[in-house]
Amino acid sequence: MSRPRRNIRSRIHALSIGIIPALIGLSAMLLGLITLPRARVHADSTPGFDSQVAPILQKNCLACHSSASKMGGFVLQNYAALMKGGAHGAVIVPGKADQSRMIQMLEGKVQPRMPFGADPLAAADIATLRAWIEGGALGPAPGEATKTLAPLAIPDIKPQVAVVSPVASVRFSPDGTMLAVGGYQEVRLIDSASGKPLATLTGHADYVRSIAFSPDGRMLAAAGGSPQRSGEIKVWDLSSRQLLKTMVGHKDCIYSVAWSPNGKLLASGSYDKMVKLWDVASGQETKNLQDHIDAVFAVAFSPDGKHLASASQDRSVKVWDIASGMRLYTLGDATDGLTSIAYSPSGKQIAAAGYDKTIYVWQIGDSDGRLLHSLIADEDTILALAWTPDGKTLITSSSDGSIRFRDAATLDPIRVIDHQPDWVEALSISPDGTRLAAGRFNGTLSLFDMKSFKELLGPWVAFDSRDMVLGIRDSGLGIRARVP
Ligand code: HEC
Repeated sequence: MSRPRRNIRSRIHALSIGIIPALIGLSAMLLGLITLPRARVHADSTPGFDSQVAPILQKNCLACHSSASKMGGFVLQNYAALMKGGAHGAVIVPGKADQSRMIQMLEGKVQPRMPFGADPLAAADIATLRAWIEGGALGPAPGEATKTLAPLAIPDIKPQVAVVSPVASVRFSPDGTMLAVGGYQEVRLIDSASGKPLATLTGHADYVRSIAFSPDGRMLAAAGGSPQRSGEIKVWDLSSRQLLKTMVGHKDCIYSVAWSPNGKLLASGSYDKMVKLWDVASGQETKNLQDHIDAVFAVAFSPDGKHLASASQDRSVKVWDIASGMRLYTLGDATDGLTSIAYSPSGKQIAAAGYDKTIYVWQIGDSDGRLLHSLIADEDTILALAWTPDGKTLITSSSDGSIRFRDAATLDPIRVIDHQPDWVEALSISPDGTRLAAGRFNGTLSLFDMKSFKELLGPWVAFDSRDMVLGIRDSGLGIRARVP
């Protein structure tokens, strides 16, 4: 029932939409506009929806889960919406409280714990919700009148929390001496040998979701933008650490940016389903590549710079001709959205992976590609994928908590680094192939040795924690709150 959907990408996406809609939702509630359906008559011991369940949700959850605020894509202001679930599908399994994601989130078994940023619900309230689900999660009888409930109390949100940005992107510089790490509104440049911060590049609109270095290592492109508004690419000069230009385009934020091997072009893939090419020297958008029917999460140039490959939530990889901007062909084998893509260093193969936990490897040509291998490689969504510079190894990270190394020719396992402290959303291999950088949702970073698979450095927190007042600015709700 609950098909895993955009997971972490929508986590960051949905969250950074901000608190303003939540406040609108709250005022709507305070005006008493929200109606909740009445309960059906239940057996004595089963709590009624209207009398017992709705008041708990209304008091503790509606500020963030009204149809106006809709955090996590989840609306619970009426029975039908509650049963429909959120961005990840249904949250209630009638008759099975343990399997209901809403209960798992209330009990802290699935992160983030709900209600977000506030104290956990009272045990008695959780017990009531459990009993209602165990009793079949019944709603109002058809045709029964709905009743407008009294205004709501403002949920118990801690006004101030110390938060640290997740690592949304990480990239080794071409000479391997530096790491660029993208987080909320900033990029940290880090000495890759010592882990020491070198500089912070600030002023980005929202999360820096993807980073690309120019092939000569002189410039850095940091891409992101405001969800539901626009995409942004900032190009920085690395020796002076000056901002060279800000390129704005797309109707939603950018998830992936790539620099062409000749240094002249940037490519971006966005939640708005478009792929764009940009001329670095002029800062102008030169082509809009339109064919995906859902969000584009990853783009990569072929090593010869002639083609671009894009991977999308629409389950397809598309290969484009750079000179003409034409789509050459579509690789449509995946059964769910794709989050990541990589060309083999030879340029003869493409690997992609995503929500169906599977690595796909295609042999590609100028006019067509054919599936060489596919393997259910992880136990949950594959968040990132990288191909080693020698072409021999494919590395994936997954929301099952692992980083896995596989033989690129056979997909046979080589090694697993398990039990990551949080989802590894970003991977980068040093250009000499000796080290792997992994950036996590909890804001930490680690460097691993590619021979011994030992952790050389880390985990360390990449960004400073900041005190954010929830409800002001982008609220920091995109960021998992730490206990202050
Ligand atoms: C302060 C805001 C806030 C409050 C209050 C809150 N939530 Fe959430 N909720 C969120 C955010 C933000 C997400 C998205 C989290 C993510 O995906 O990382 C979310 C996601 C969820 C999801 C997952 C939806 C999906 O499919 O991904 C469930 C279930 C949920 N909340 C239930 C509740 C319940 C039940 C309550 C009340 C007891 C509650 N929440 C209170 C902010 C809140």
